[in-house]
Amino acid sequence: MKKISMLINALDRISHINPEIYGHFSEHLGRCIYNGIYVGEDSAVPNTDGIRNDVIEAFRNIRMPVLRWPGGCFADEYHWKDGIGDKAQRKKMINTNWGGVSEDNSFGTHEFFRLCELVGCEPYLAGNLGSGTVEELSEWVEYITLEGGSPMSELRKKNGREKPWKLKYLGIGNENWGCGGSMRPEYYADEYRRYQSFCKNYSGNELFRIACGPSAEDYNWTEVIMKNLNQYHTKGISLHYYTVPTGDWSHKGSATEFDTELYYSTISKTLYMNELITRHTDIMDRYDPDNNIGLIVDEWGCWYDVEKGTNPGFLYQQNTMRDAIVAACNLNIFNRHSGRVIMANLAQAVNVLQSLILTEGEIMVKTPTYHVFDLFKDHQDGELVYCFSTNEQAGDKVPLLSSSASVKDGVMTITLANCSLEESAEIACDIRGFEGSSASARILTGEVHTCNDFDEPDRLVPSAHPVKLENGMLTAELPPCSVVCVTVK
Ligand code: AHR
Repeated sequence: MKKISMLINALDRISHINPEIYGHFSEHLGRCIYNGIYVGEDSAVPNTDGIRNDVIEAFRNIRMPVLRWPGGCFADEYHWKDGIGDKAQRKKMINTNWGGVSEDNSFGTHEFFRLCELVGCEPYLAGNLGSGTVEELSEWVEYITLEGGSPMSELRKKNGREKPWKLKYLGIGNENWGCGGSMRPEYYADEYRRYQSFCKNYSGNELFRIACGPSAEDYNWTEVIMKNLNQYHTKGISLHYYTVPTGDWSHKGSATEFDTELYYSTISKTLYMNELITRHTDIMDRYDPDNNIGLIVDEWGCWYDVEKGTNPGFLYQQNTMRDAIVAACNLNIFNRHSGRVIMANLAQAVNVLQSLILTEGEIMVKTPTYHVFDLFKDHQDGELVYCFSTNEQAGDKVPLLSSSASVKDGVMTITLANCSLEESAEIACDIRGFEGSSASARILTGEVHTCNDFDEPDRLVPSAHPVKLENGMLTAELPPCSVVCVTVK
């Protein structure tokens, strides 16, 4: 048993935790959209306008704040006009990035906005800068947001939507250093300046324009983008970083079969997110000292080898307690950087990479990662407060404890992960500057390889966990490999 002392000072309010930090990402990739989210109106799977009811309910339950779409790499090949109007007439295309399968465009703009409406989340569109045109993107914004009297607003009405939608988050391109056009940052910055000029604010709608930011430690990309885009209505720049356990993209490792060493290597690689955000923030601070531009980690999560027997282009992987620890570590990191990180989007929502949900026909499974988002949801819109811990090493490799704390409406939320596979942690946490008389907790824990599957969907679910609060001192025991959320009132 490792003893850990913590100190939380609720009088030290550090930054606001934007709900969008708990955001998600859905791409036309494998079974994320089709079968995962969208089954069509005629499906035997219970649905609303073709969207799975079980998925809507699950997304609502974790208070999903924002959903990014249609990609990913797919976004820079997507032509939005192919996905509107009569479904039978919609143009088919080949999804060249993801398995070379046929895409019938039956899920398009109207269907995506309907999904966001049903879930109650903000839509976040990734626009096509790589293979599209300025005219095409500017018309998409017009189609979605302009009240009436223009060719695109009339086309929208003809397609059954009288009122415009609200669109806040608009990404201008995706990974334009890679699948989005292999551009140099200087070239992308010029393209971005041109594209953003023609994405207008119509009918009271105000766009929050997001530029393509770096991959992992490409600090030069951030430097060039910040130098060139600061004054061009840019509100956010993105960061993409995936946790690959082996560090080798050709043999990433299995989602379910891994040894202790690979587990700790996964945690160590995921904690690298902290260094990445710190160093990109340092660059952003130099060009934007007033903090007008947010860092948006719009792709993160574990990327493993696909499950045996599945299409390698579909990126389908299982999800274990290891993923739960990864999710908790990242969400605590984002909370702690919420002064600069204003949005993050897990890759991806359903059936792809470190997903929230897996589906097979009518059955839906909530992964351990889903349950971590459920445990952490009360941080949304809270104020991050000072939280220090003495910490210990786990497996001689990584810090044992990951933590963060926030306060909202007189309630304190403390989230903790014990990353050790061997040792329990005994937490003694001195809470100052907060009048709390009761504490309760929920825990997600299990042997690290445990997952939820179609035979046993509820093998891992959160349960109540005993904690004690006496004279401002909170005590709790965290078993090995566990994620805990403590609520103090
Ligand atoms: O999430 C899968 C892919 O990873 C996305 O399409 C792309 O943006 C990234 O490389």
